[in-house]
Amino acid sequence: MEWRRRHVLGLYDFRPEEIEFVVDTARSMEEVLTRDIKKVPALRGKTVVNLFFEASTRTRTSFEMAGKRLSADVVNFSSSTSSITKGETLLDTARNIEAMKPSVIVIRHAASGAPHFLSRHVSCSIVNAGDGANEHPTQGLLDLYTILKAKGSVAGRKIAIVGDILHSRVVRSDLHSLGKMGAKLWLCGPATLLPREMGRTGATLTCDIREAVKDADVVIMLRIQLERQKTAYFPSLREYSRMYGLNRSVFSLAKEDAVIMHPGPINRGIELSDDLADCGNSLVLRQVESGVAVRMAILYLLAGGSHAAH
Ligand code: NCD
Repeated sequence: MEWRRRHVLGLYDFRPEEIEFVVDTARSMEEVLTRDIKKVPALRGKTVVNLFFEASTRTRTSFEMAGKRLSADVVNFSSSTSSITKGETLLDTARNIEAMKPSVIVIRHAASGAPHFLSRHVSCSIVNAGDGANEHPTQGLLDLYTILKAKGSVAGRKIAIVGDILHSRVVRSDLHSLGKMGAKLWLCGPATLLPREMGRTGATLTCDIREAVKDADVVIMLRIQLERQKTAYFPSLREYSRMYGLNRSVFSLAKEDAVIMHPGPINRGIELSDDLADCGNSLVLRQVESGVAVRMAILYLLAGGSHAAH
């Protein structure tokens, strides 16, 4: 396959072959990460700018690590210490950064569509690292990659995604990455956080966590996105946790070899009990590990791959 994309804004328009191509590229990147010297010169002389307007631990460090493993220069920009606090607009900030000639800008922003907007105004590549409640494409890809590594396949597998579906950009990317690869997706949460239109994606919706988890191969738990909620969607966190938290008793309904995933940060004791977060079925840290390989693949395809478009 020839890679033709200049930006990775979302997985909504990714064809299954493209998703497979990224997965294959991530596999070769992962091989680099097993070497003694975990660095290749693929992006030497290229610059990656991390432009993060929202909090992040995993995603930002993972993009930074990915860029460095490929020998790119990585510049981190955080909105709290930048001229954004002096009133500079997103576009002015991006244009000024672009004047320094980066190859890729990785952006996280609270506004859905911010990366798409930038992609129309700058000439370098844009990677969406999470835009509001819209998409988080590299998370969707790393979730797929992690499941493929653990289970060998995704097609026909029952994957339950439980939590704040309404505000989750992770679920909107997982629906594409896992859905296009043939997973049987179940979305579960309180009715107020489970938009009916999500049913149009082919996923099954339920407000009953037991029904969602029953015979599942994979259970993906999501954090309640309190920072995006402007009204009360459930009576209390305590009640939410009782109804929608994953504990031993609910997880025992899943297949015996089922795995638990979470994009992080975990609110222990709310969506996921402490013991399950750290149990042998938890892939949470493997997701983080996969994140570096998948992001190396994306940066390489956009900035260094022999087929990278200009
Ligand atoms: C997610 C995010 O920011 O969208 N985290 C992540 O990138 N690993 C999920 C979340 O914040 O709950």
